[in-house]
This record gives sequence, C-alpha cells and structure tokens, in this order.
Amino acid sequence: PFERGAMCNPIHLYKGIWYRAHSLEAAMAFQRHFQARDTDIILATAPKSGTTWLKSLVFAVTHRSQYPVTDQNHPLLTTNPHGVVPFLELIYRNNKNPDLTSTPPPRIYSTHVPYTMLPESVQTSKCQIIYLCRNPKDIFVSMWHFGNMLLKDIPSSQPITIEESFERFCKGITMFGPCWEQALEYWKKSIEKPEEILFLKYEDLKANINSQLKRIAKHLGCPFSSEEENEGVIEDIANLCSFKHLSNLEVNKTGKLFFFQVVENNVFFSKGEVGDWINILTPSMVEKLDQVVEHKLNGSGLTLN
Ligand code: A3P
Repeated sequence: PFERGAMCNPIHLYKGIWYRAHSLEAAMAFQRHFQARDTDIILATAPKSGTTWLKSLVFAVTHRSQYPVTDQNHPLLTTNPHGVVPFLELIYRNNKNPDLTSTPPPRIYSTHVPYTMLPESVQTSKCQIIYLCRNPKDIFVSMWHFGNMLLKDIPSSQPITIEESFERFCKGITMFGPCWEQALEYWKKSIEKPEEILFLKYEDLKANINSQLKRIAKHLGCPFSSEEENEGVIEDIANLCSFKHLSNLEVNKTGKLFFFQVVENNVFFSKGEVGDWINILTPSMVEKLDQVVEHKLNGSGLTLN
C-alpha cells in the first residue's frame, strides 16, 4: 500500500522511536549491511528539519573542486538534492544488500534513524556525521503541510486536521519521532565525540549561513582557504543552495522523484523560514509542545526553541 502513499502505511514503535513499516524494515537492513568507510559523510536529521538544504550545502562544499560552485553544469542545477545525496533508508528499501563499493569518496548519505540505529561500522569508524536539528514547532507545521500534500495524491483520502496531527506529534507519533528524542541523543553523542559528530541548528544556518558553512567545511577536513574566502566561494555556495535559488530551479519546480512514493520535487520547498509556527499554532498548542520538549531536554544544555 505504500506505493500509493506512505501515509497509509501503519506506524510502529521500535526502541522508543516510531517508524512506518517500510522504513523500519529498511533501517534494519541498513543497520545490518551498510559498511561505513572513514571517508563517508552521514547527514542525520529528523524529517522536515532542513534535510534538503543540508544535502545541498554539504555536497557543494565537499565537491567544490570537482564542480566549481559557479559551474553551469553543477549537479545541483539539474538534480534535486535528494537525488544528489540519497537516503540510506531508501537505498535499503529498494535492495536489502546493495553494492555501494564503487561509489567514489567522499560518499555522502543521509538518514533519519536515531544514533543507536546506525550500523556499528558508522559508530566505530572515523566517518563524519552531521546532525541538523530544528525547532519542533516549525518541524510540526512543516510536517503537517507535507503530510497533507502527500495525501492529496491518495484517492478518497481526507486531509489531516491540525488538531489530530498535533496530538500525535506531541506524543511523538510521527515518522522517526519524537524528533526531540533523536536530537537529544545526537546532541549527547556530539559532545562525547566532537571529532566525528557536528551538531547544527536550522535556525543558525538561517541566521548566519557563512559562518555555518565554515564550520561544516572545517569539520569535514576541507576548510576554505583565504583565497577562496576572498573570491567569495562561501557566498557562492550559500547562494547556490539558498531556498530562493533551489526552489526556483526548473528541476525542483517540475521534476519528480521516487521517495517512499513518487513525489514532486517541489514538496521539499515550502516556505523555508524560521518561526512560521506563530501563524499556525494556538497559544495553548505552543504551551503544550514547549512543555513536552522542555521536559525532555531539561538539564541537557540543548535548547530547540
Ligand atoms: P518549511 O515547510 O517550514 O518551509 P526537509 O528537507 O527535512 O524535508 O525539510 C523541509 C523544510 O526545509 C521545509 O520547511 C522547506 O521549505 C525547508 N527548506 C528546503 N530547502 C531549503 C533551503 N535551501 N533553505 C532553507 N530551507 C529550506
């Protein structure tokens, strides 16, 4: 049934995290078979926290000598970021033991699974993990819109009301949820293993993309040279990957890709703003979700608001 729409697929709780059935199966295959290399880069996120943006940024940074950012043939101009950097869950959903050995380094993959579900080779190798979190209130609003967009393609389905969706979200019942649980786990690991895990926030990327691009490049062992800085390479990457630029590319306006169902590339670009929740959530919703998140993060040093 997920071919018609992942939203119809049952959702299961496994080790404290909710998965759609097909995602859990794929996550388990990925955990069992994926062999990490020290040169791999794994981008970990909760759904709707800016995965598409992170994919484009990391690809542009790491491939800048092969594809100069202003190159007219840059892959990000003709391929959706999810085509450029694939999800491991999708690779392993389609083939339980794919051969990924011929992909040249650095191999960049993304995942929504929690740290504890990552294959042992990822946890023990020197491969780099970048985790991107986002304010759960913005994640919720983004996810609610996204879910209803996907449901439009499913005959006789009804839109999900915000109230119903919100109750489930507060209980953590969303794909790979609760998102605050996952963020906290990666946060703690990033403190334990700062050499291997870089923890980023969507809001910081929006506030100062240049400084965050420098952190990303440094963490991945390819810092910007002063020459590159003078030539404006950082600004060029920021512009190439900006919401305005990516969402207006023909490929992202009209193309489609097989996600867990066929989706239009434009579903990954909605508003790309910080704080849209204020226009959507009632004060009591805000209070409730803030309480749930604060209770979980209390004393950890991590804030998601
Ligand atoms: P909104 O729905 O709030 O607009 P993901 O990629 O994890 O699915 O997250 C999608 C969210 O990231 C959407 O948020 C989308 O608009 C936003 N987004 C996509 N590309 C972006 C970009 N280049 N810059 C900033 N935000 C972006």
